Amino acid sequence: MTNEASTSHLYAHDFRIDPESRRRLLRQTPAILWFTGLSGSGKSAIADGVEARLHVSGRLTYTLDGDSVRLGLCKDLGFSDDDRHENVRRVSEVAKLMADAGLVVLVCLISPFRSDRELAKSIAGKHNFAEIHVHASLAVAEARDPKGLYRLARRGAIQHFTGVDSPYEQPTAPDVFIDTCLLSINEGVEIVLNWLDRH
Ligand code: ADX
Repeated sequence: MTNEASTSHLYAHDFRIDPESRRRLLRQTPAILWFTGLSGSGKSAIADGVEARLHVSGRLTYTLDGDSVRLGLCKDLGFSDDDRHENVRRVSEVAKLMADAGLVVLVCLISPFRSDRELAKSIAGKHNFAEIHVHASLAVAEARDPKGLYRLARRGAIQHFTGVDSPYEQPTAPDVFIDTCLLSINEGVEIVLNWLDRH
């Protein structure tokens, strides 16, 4: 049994205005920058800095951030493995549509499972896709605890918290690796912008 609806009687219309038309109109190459890492690792702070720099240089961008999408698009989802999978899948599809629309899309999700991140890349299809591992050791992320959630998770007030009682599978070959135990947010921003320049 699968909960996937049948797609056998669907026929995608061949619209005249395609991703290439929008790319020419906007004069930019779309991309998906996928930031993965523990809560408190610095994903959103680095994405924020990258987006601000792209914006002032005239690029049209959008950031899909876990805490925000979970207030709307994914408000029916929790933090079980299955719900995280569905969260990543939905956000991947939205990121792909936004890239089709011509945008540089920044995605900040813990996205703890390797298979889900691989799915995100395959959904992106032909678009430029960068897996950006924003690394902080659990000890450092927990000491930062910007939202006080590690404290709640250690007390048992939150279940399935990544790093505490839910796993984080480290990327084995990310396109970009940023260790925020060693580097500042600004240095992380420069590393991502350099990657973008080179691609
Ligand atoms: S993901 O695992 O499905 O990719 P996502 O990035 O959307 O997670 O959401 C993570 C955010 O939800 C965290 O930044 C944190 O603020 C909040 N959160 C609440 N409960 C949990 C939990 N059990 N595990 C991880 N993050 C949680």
